[in-house]
Amino acid sequence: DWTMAEFRATKIQEIREQVGSGRVICGLSGGVDSAVAAVLIHEAIGHQLTCVFVDHGLMRHGEAEQVVSLFRNHYNIPLVHVDVEDLFLGGLAGVTDPEAKRKFIGKTFIDVFETEAKKVGGADFLAQGTLYPDVIESVSFTGGPSVTIKSHHNVGGLPERMNMKLVEPLRELFKDEVRELGRELGLPEAFVGRHPFPGPGLAIRIPGEVTKERCDILRKADLIYLEEIRNAGLYDAIWQAFAVLLPVRTVGVMGDGRTYDNVCALRAVTSTDGMTADIYPFDAAFLSRVATRIINEVRGINRVVYDYTSKPPGTIEWE
Ligand code: XMP
Repeated sequence: DWTMAEFRATKIQEIREQVGSGRVICGLSGGVDSAVAAVLIHEAIGHQLTCVFVDHGLMRHGEAEQVVSLFRNHYNIPLVHVDVEDLFLGGLAGVTDPEAKRKFIGKTFIDVFETEAKKVGGADFLAQGTLYPDVIESVSFTGGPSVTIKSHHNVGGLPERMNMKLVEPLRELFKDEVRELGRELGLPEAFVGRHPFPGPGLAIRIPGEVTKERCDILRKADLIYLEEIRNAGLYDAIWQAFAVLLPVRTVGVMGDGRTYDNVCALRAVTSTDGMTADIYPFDAAFLSRVATRIINEVRGINRVVYDYTSKPPGTIEWE
């Protein structure tokens, strides 16, 4: 029986003991977990921490700006913003296998962290916002044989040759507890309440090859979908909602012309910890409004479908 204030104090002590006088690098993904980890570690060790926002070009619309402004303006925590879109998209060219994408992204994150660590005179530790469910899911099905479902990049997707030791202060926590800790640390409610966003970003929401053009199409569709969810007052009732750009083209008709464009799938689930999930039962009018807007406003998409798969048997992300 503990409170978040106690947890905060205990973790700060633990982080200080683990790190000593070493240097820590913390990657910010745009999500709540890495932001909470960074703020907590900063409170523990101050300037021994370097926060790095790896802008891999796989973020949602506006995400980079929001994270950078949270750290620089709200907290005044120094933040290195590295633009490595070309490195990530270049390496993802031609890659279609989901685990290959995850492995490449995990490895490239580490390359970037190591490069940034050198610039500050080296780092002994890499901090990550790994949560308890990430730990479990990257290891095995509970109770079954040890089978990796997918390599969450902040756990199993890391390369083995990594030189830095891991600092993972949130490893025992579930999402709702991380949000509580975030509030305890003074993160703005709008940031704390954000839907989870995976480290590999839009790359795992674009089955098949990831290109800048496809990322741009997906960002537009995703923005419209989330805007409609917010306008309908549904954002906080949903664990996670996002669009997926399928590698399938279908025939359509617009005005008096034929179209032959991509299919976009919409996903929204409720969950308490991300380990199981149910589909969110939107009403038909809501879904048709979103579909119409996406098809009318996003060039490159001419058909929208809704994903009716719970977890299990589906996972939340498509890859
Ligand atoms: P799945 O797709 O495994 O997702 O049902 C469960 C939750 O984890 C998020 N997710 C990730 N988060 N790095 C992360 O930090 C990852 O590689 C990753 N893969 C999935 C997913 O968005 C969902 O909330």
